[in-house]
Amino acid sequence: MRKKILAANWKMNLLRNEAIELANQFSQYAQNHHVQIYAPFLYLSELVSDEDLAFGAQNFYFENSGAYTGEISLPQLASCGVKHVLIGHSERRQLFNETDELLKKKVDAAIANGFNIIFCCGEPREIREQNEHVQFVVSQLKNSLFHIPSSRWKQVALAYEPIWAIGTGLTATSEQAEDMHASIRQSIKVEIGEEVAESISILYGGSCNENNAKELFSCDNVDGGLIGGASLKNEAFKVIFQALYDLH
Ligand code: PGA
Repeated sequence: MRKKILAANWKMNLLRNEAIELANQFSQYAQNHHVQIYAPFLYLSELVSDEDLAFGAQNFYFENSGAYTGEISLPQLASCGVKHVLIGHSERRQLFNETDELLKKKVDAAIANGFNIIFCCGEPREIREQNEHVQFVVSQLKNSLFHIPSSRWKQVALAYEPIWAIGTGLTATSEQAEDMHASIRQSIKVEIGEEVAESISILYGGSCNENNAKELFSCDNVDGGLIGGASLKNEAFKVIFQALYDLH
């Protein structure tokens, strides 16, 4: 059985008290499940005291220490009790120019420092319209992720997030999500091996909300969600949580 993971990506939202209150609300029902919250850096050391939830960083720098003004390293995160990181989110790729090459360095650093990662991939609208989305996403994975040894894949989960669906209200249909997730799993089978392909969790992200979560999660190859906007409201997130873990 693959692990079902529900991850909240709070992005640059919520003030300190709002974040603490929302995390408290999540922890009332989310214990004993794989619920991860990618919160702003500043709040992480305070939030990690809640042992019912896992907290992760939305970003980090790949060097362990040094003269990198304004950056945060993995050992610093670990020293605050953080064990999860997001890598390759399309906003980091597009707005902050993170290239496949940089992402490869981040993957290596996170793996070496013992972090669990959610590696994000996904195509822009033009690529989907040209019907080149599978090739595009698989090349993102080949360029930054597939080099890690099979023994380290336990630290990895994937999130497929079509860029045209992020924050737009447009969601991939369950067929589009299932097709892509199955293709990603197949490429892992070919490149890494069947055991990793069968055990890795592949999450869907991109306008996943309380109305469409159940249908998306019913797909065989969708093992959870990476939720942006709908993770900022407890009512919506709770419905998504119940859809994933089948609790009514
Ligand atoms: P969204 O964001 O749910 O607001 O579309 C998802 C993400 O960017 O991870």
